[in-house]
Amino acid sequence: MVPAIVIYYSLTGNTRQVARVLAERLSADIQEITEPTSRQGLKGLFRSIWQARGKRLAPILPLAVDPSRYRLAIIGTPVWAFSMASPVRSFLVDYREKLPRVAFFCTLRSSGSASVFQEMEQAAGQKPLACLTVKDREVTSNSFTEATEKFAVALLTWLKG
Ligand SMILES: Cc1cc2nc3c(=O)[nH]c(=O)nc-3n(C[C@H](O)[C@H](O)[C@H](O)COP(=O)(O)O)c2cc1C
Repeated sequence: MVPAIVIYYSLTGNTRQVARVLAERLSADIQEITEPTSRQGLKGLFRSIWQARGKRLAPILPLAVDPSRYRLAIIGTPVWAFSMASPVRSFLVDYREKLPRVAFFCTLRSSGSASVFQEMEQAAGQKPLACLTVKDREVTSNSFTEATEKFAVALLTWLKG
């Protein structure tokens, strides 16, 4: 059995970049959460805020993998209006019964990670092994290595145990 998988949603690429770094460090599989509807333009932006504020679900496409095949799922989201992105909420609702142990990470411009991790814990129905917050400027300047490394080491230690 493959030990870990990184499952993430990303609209503008930041969460994807962190997901790739984590997947490589953990030798984990990686799976993007995708949706049938585009979020391009102002209309997409307003819909994203409206969905996040109202804790609404957004349709997502089925995953190509079964998360229950893994020992650990590392789930990543951008912060939207102090909430998780709506496609990640949909993923957690749809796949809750298929989740192995979880860890969470989020990317954000400035603040909102505490409420996001709380929401994710509630939706997943379990406490995460660890959480990681990465700010946009850390992603763009590639200086997110230290916190990301600490997070990865905690997960690797658990996987070896
Ligand atoms: C609809 C929307 C709402 C956002 N709300 C917040 C927020 O509440 N707090 C924050 O710090 N950043 C907020 N951001 C910024 C994103 O969380 C941040 O840019 C993130 O890294 C984007 O991830 P992505 O590139 O993987 O989509 C928001 C961005 C969008 C598009």
